[in-house]
Formats: sequence, structure tokens, C-alpha cells
Amino acid sequence: SSVVPFHGDHQAGIVTPAQDRLHFASFKMVDGSGRDDLIELLKDWTTAARALTQGKALGSGVEPDNALLPPEDTGEAEGLQAGHLTLTFGLGRDLFTGTDDDGDPYGLRARLPEQFQPLPSFAFDLLEEARSGGDLCIQACADDPQIAVHAIRNLARIAVGRAHLFWSQLGFGRTSSTSPEQATPGNLFGFKDGTANVMSDETEALDQHIWVGEEGPEWLRGGSYLVARRIMMTIETWDRASLDEQERIVGRSKLEGAPLSGAREFDEPDFQAESDGEPVIDLASHVRLAHPENNDGARILRRGYNYVDGSNTLGQMGAGLFFISFQKDPGIFSRVQRSLKPDLMNEYIRHIGSGLWAVPPGVRSGEFLAQALFE
Ligand code: HEM
Repeated sequence: SSVVPFHGDHQAGIVTPAQDRLHFASFKMVDGSGRDDLIELLKDWTTAARALTQGKALGSGVEPDNALLPPEDTGEAEGLQAGHLTLTFGLGRDLFTGTDDDGDPYGLRARLPEQFQPLPSFAFDLLEEARSGGDLCIQACADDPQIAVHAIRNLARIAVGRAHLFWSQLGFGRTSSTSPEQATPGNLFGFKDGTANVMSDETEALDQHIWVGEEGPEWLRGGSYLVARRIMMTIETWDRASLDEQERIVGRSKLEGAPLSGAREFDEPDFQAESDGEPVIDLASHVRLAHPENNDGARILRRGYNYVDGSNTLGQMGAGLFFISFQKDPGIFSRVQRSLKPDLMNEYIRHIGSGLWAVPPGVRSGEFLAQALFE
């Protein structure tokens, strides 16, 4: 069956083997909305997510008895099955702090986790406000783009009057493995991406680096934090760099994905290795700078997607990586991203969108998403 269970200790869509397609959506609560609106919305989204992830039509379906009403399901996913659809929900910081100093519209100010600090601004950030942040996010992943889009479209429809779509992103070709059974896919630079990721069978590493534990508030335990970064890639410039240069930048070989100090994809990189007195893996290569050894052991679970949003008048593709990572503390992402300041890859990329959300733990039967936050 192509159903990924919606219920569980953790939300699906994190360690779930990465599906091929993404529709990511950020929502803003409607001005003047309050705690009850938020609770009702989360309840309605939970009910809908249960049906959608099982490949079922919503409510009274595509053809309700009363033909004078709009159908409760928009219909474009009819006959498509569940397609491994996962819906992963996150809560933005503004829900807790309000957007001005005096307000606490959802009565959540006292529940803000200590770790839930906004991301700092990083060197080379060129963030567009209209593509950053949001009160709520939904990561929809599926085998088929129509299934992911259908889910976001219907969840946006259900939100009307309480929250509205703020920005969204379609993605294709997962750029990460999250399970050792999956072959490592290539990103738009043509390099294997996800080789050194935290994998679903690394139970200990998941507890240590990805799931919120005792250090976080009770309502968030078993949850995580989702960081999204819309990263533009100047692929036309990249394509003019020599193979040697491309491999030096990444620190791995192009076809095999092996560290330049080794021969096979899963060989451990040896950052001490030298040839003619020079480090084999460049000091400013992406993998050296991002590696746990260079980050006090910090690890993140990457789950990003490629995107191409049209092209510009110079004949260049609007290509990039919609980077998504999960970690038990947003500070872990910041730690790694700060290390990437001297990254040789920076010449070919620009971070143009950003978002951070707390991802509540999984939903149990009969409960609604983030229920413990409101108790
Ligand atoms: C590794 C590409 C952005 C964190 C890699 C690898 C590639 C790659 C090809 C080597 C294979 C692998 O282990 O997955 C890219 C591209 C990016 C990008 C094209 C932007 C367009 C980022 C960002 C972060 C990040 C923003 C986090 C702040 C990592 C980490 C590793 C990695 C932690 C594994 C390092 C290791 O332990 O060996 N990336 N990456 N990457 N990247 Fe990125």
C-alpha cells in the first residue's frame, strides 16, 4: 500500500524515506484571529490530514448530495491513491510572541520554548520578506506532484477566514536520502546529495540530534524544528567551472560521491589526508565545513528538494535547492550555517528565503495536532 501512517510518536515526513515531490506552504493567521481560531484550524487540519494521507476524499467528497454546494474535495486527486503522502506541520515563533509588543493573541507567550530563538542573519543572506517566515507551515511530500498540490490546496481552502497562504514552493527530485535503502540522488549541481545524512535507522543519533527531548518543553518532546531555506543556484556559472574545481568545492567526487580522500561513496572523509603538502579535501570545501567534526559534533537531518521556477530575461534558469532540515534546536542549524561562511560553494548560491517552525510531535488517534500546547 502507498499509505504512510499519519499517527505516531513523531510526525511523518521527517524520517519517512524521502518522496520525490514537494509542495511546501507557509501560512499567516488572519489579523484579529484568536486562540479559538487557531485551535479550530489545527483540529480541522488534523481531520483533513488523516483522510488525505490515506488517499481518501475530504468530507462529503467530490460529488456531495447537495449539488447546490461546492464540493468539499476539489477532486484532482481522485483515483491517485495515497502516493506516500506525508503532511508535516510546524508552528512559527510569531504565534507565541505576537507581532507587536503588547499582543498575545493566542495566549501562547508563556509556552515559548527557550530554544525557539529566531535565526540570526548570516553572511551573504539576501532574503526576500515575501518568501520568508510565516505562522504555520505544511510540508507536503508525495510520489506524485498532483497529490502534494491537492493536499496543500485543500488545506488552504479549509483555513479560509482563519489563515491564508503566504508563500509556497514546489520541489522535485529529493536531494536527500533519509533511509539506507534509498540510492543517493543528485542535486542540480550534479552531485550526490544526502550521503552523510542522519538516516531513519540511526535511532540514537535521531534522539541525540533531531528529536526534542528533556531539554525542551513537554508539549514539544518527540517533535523537532524545521528550517527551510530557499537557495538560488547559479547553475549556468557552475556549468562553466571545471570538474576539478567543482569537486574541490564540494570535497567529493562527482560521479561516485566519494570523499576526495577515499574511493567509495560511503568511505569516511579523512580531513587530515595530504598530497604534496596540500590537504586533499580543501579547507574551504562544503563537506569539510559542514561536517560534524568542524561543528562540535552537530548533525542535522536534511530533506530538501530541487526547484526550477521559470527562467529570467538573461536566459538563465531560476534554479535552486529548497533546503529543509530538521534538528532538535534551531541553534544547531545556525552553528552549521555559520561554519559555511568561507564555503567555496557560496560563489554559486544565494539564500533568498528562510523560515523556522517548531514541529510538534506526532498525533495520536483521537487527538489533534499540537493538542498538548493548549492544555
Ligand atoms: C553535504 C550540496 C547547502 C549542510 C553536502 C553534499 C553536497 C551538498 C553535494 C555532499 C553529500 C552529502 O553528504 O550529502 C549542497 C548544496 C547546497 C547545500 C548544493 C545549497 C544549494 C547546505 C546548507 C547546509 C548544508 C545550507 C546547512 C547549513 C550539509 C551537511 C552535509 C552536506 C551537514 C554533510 C557533511 C558531512 O557530514 O560530510 N551538501 N549543500 N548544506 N551539506 Fe550541503
